[in-house]
Amino acid sequence: MDLKEKIDSLRLPKHIAIIMDGNGRWAKSRGEMRVFGHQNGVESVRQTSTAAAELGVEFLTLYAFSTENWKRPKCEVDALMSLLVQTLNSELGTLMENNIRLKAIGNINKLQPDCYKQLLETMDKTSGNNRMDLILALNYSGRWEISQAAARIAAEVKAGNLDPEKINQDVFESYLETHNIPDPELLIRTSGENRISNFLLWQAAYSELYFTPKLWPDFRKDDLYEAILDYQNRERRFGMISEQIK
Ligand code: IPE
Ligand code: IPE
Ligand code: MG
Repeated sequence: MDLKEKIDSLRLPKHIAIIMDGNGRWAKSRGEMRVFGHQNGVESVRQTSTAAAELGVEFLTLYAFSTENWKRPKCEVDALMSLLVQTLNSELGTLMENNIRLKAIGNINKLQPDCYKQLLETMDKTSGNNRMDLILALNYSGRWEISQAAARIAAEVKAGNLDPEKINQDVFESYLETHNIPDPELLIRTSGENRISNFLLWQAAYSELYFTPKLWPDFRKDDLYEAILDYQNRERRFGMISEQIK
């Protein structure tokens, strides 16, 4: 029986989030420039997105560029941005064929203008698709997201539109980039690093974490299936005890 058939479709995570890591090391191990790794990561994005959509996953969030990634050498940042533009363009067909709607979270209007424009265009063209939302985290970090939410809430209070007594977790969540998106049940990180790196800090409060040594450009459909199977063998207790779950 192949891995895909072992997956219980009734217990599928609705939302999977992935920290796509290890592109640079993948390229280095081949004696290539880091950008070669990023280029080869595109196939992994294609495979993972189509596999998730085929399974019936409703939301797939991919961490593509963090607010800290601006600190990388300028030539790498520029290469990543132009790869993004190229990929959004070349993958439109894949998104349409698979009925996938593209969305983005992060401080996207601070991306380079051509990137921002291409992103809006691809989001617009795919806006009628409804099998799965593919959410790119771009110029995103959890601390940025939480602090901008706090600033916007404070402004609403100051303007007299929001009673501070009414602020609770639901209200706070409505100011996050991910409002209307359920928290990810499963959070995957490739490349063997066991950290969150400022991704979905609020939303991952109870996510099941899955770390794999595979470098992102090597990640294929079967790797996604393996992560989901691992997730399906866990017990999520949300602070309760085992007996209460059953
Ligand atoms: C992930 O791969 C891609 C981005 C962060 C944009 P890296 O570029 O971080 O690759 P490593 O971790 O250095 O190998
Ligand atoms: C996390 O990877 C960011 C993305 C995958 C976009 P990094 O490679 O930037 O994370 P650190 O620096 O190893 O924590
Ligand atoms: Mg990295």
